[in-house]
Amino acid sequence: MRIDGDRLLRRLAELGAIGAIEGTEGCARLALTDEDRDGRDLVVTWMRELGLDIEVDGIGNVIATMPWPDDTPPVMCGSHIDTVRTGGRYDGNLGVLAGLEIIETVLAEGAELARPLSVAFFTDEEGARFPPDMLGSLVYVGGMPLEEALTIEGIDGAIVGDELDRIGYAGSAPLPGRVPHSFVELHIEQGPVLEADGVTIGAVTGVQGISWQEVVVTGQSNHAGTTPISHRRDPGLVAARCTAFVRDLADELGHPQVATVGRIEFHPNLVNVVPASATFTVDLRNTDEAVLQESERRFAEFLGAAAEAEGCTVETRRLARFEPVIFDDMVIDLVESSAQDLGFSVQRMPSGAGHDAQMLARVCPTAMVFTPSKDGISHNPAEHTDPADLEAGANVMLRTMLALATEA
Ligand code: GLV
Ligand code: MN
Ligand code: MN
Repeated sequence: MRIDGDRLLRRLAELGAIGAIEGTEGCARLALTDEDRDGRDLVVTWMRELGLDIEVDGIGNVIATMPWPDDTPPVMCGSHIDTVRTGGRYDGNLGVLAGLEIIETVLAEGAELARPLSVAFFTDEEGARFPPDMLGSLVYVGGMPLEEALTIEGIDGAIVGDELDRIGYAGSAPLPGRVPHSFVELHIEQGPVLEADGVTIGAVTGVQGISWQEVVVTGQSNHAGTTPISHRRDPGLVAARCTAFVRDLADELGHPQVATVGRIEFHPNLVNVVPASATFTVDLRNTDEAVLQESERRFAEFLGAAAEAEGCTVETRRLARFEPVIFDDMVIDLVESSAQDLGFSVQRMPSGAGHDAQMLARVCPTAMVFTPSKDGISHNPAEHTDPADLEAGANVMLRTMLALATEA
């Protein structure tokens, strides 16, 4: 049995046209915006056309399951269809549309299954508008109470619960959600490893730990021409020193430590005014929890000292914190053997990005399938994966899911 690669590509293009960034393959569908709603509506239409049982829960996760006579836990796949503001059309979307393609193939060809297949798209995986990332799947597995998630405020001041109501995706399916038999997620690698190694499939062994915080440094706003340097309390300088420090820290701790200041805002943000405040985010990640904690501690020490030296005060707010996750050996083995059976080169690797699968791993056997990313570029409209690799990944998923759905 094989999926229909052209049909998968057509759906990726159709979904990618919603929120399309002109002149690129990329899209902007931040979670719970009008564009996200339009993308959701399209995918739900496709789910309906396949005759699937569709559930929407209170955080807006959508789960579509093959019709089945009882409530046998399904082999679930899925991912997300929200994107960062300058995203690609594959990140997340591939895992959802490949799931749809796999179910359509199995329904058309027929197979003796012991349990149904289902495909989900989880709300706000990116966390780019509403932190933390993987919000929908976190609530699905009971990692955050729904009531708490609904009150989260976004970078634009919007509230999760209000936006879910507004776009019509505050559903009634119970949370935490039903525990699947197992979970597999197909995703583009979003990094350079598979392409560099000339390998088609990654059998993902786990996800590195993620630490996000927001820092607000407050100083003294003043005239840029008249205020001698010795008199300044400049939060912009503290933010700049912190930005440089986290890079130096990552260099010192070495691979796989990464560190990013991805958002920074000065207030009042004017050419001739020493800023009153600087607000910035820090994203630290490592596969080793102890080293990740060390990076957090070292950054906190530096921040305190840099602010004090400049006469500024500091407040920090935790946006996300997830420990490294190790996937299930049985499912990793199945991904690897499915790729080998289909004649694709395969290697084991950890994930640098966060994924919904890391939340599902808390409740059921879970692993992921990676496909190569051109030039290792993602979270960028230039994100691209060759059609042959997309199809290969979806066929590895199909084989893996069939194996999981037929075992005793
Ligand atoms: C979320 O997808 C992340 O890895 O930032
Ligand atoms: Mn993703
Ligand atoms: Mn992403």
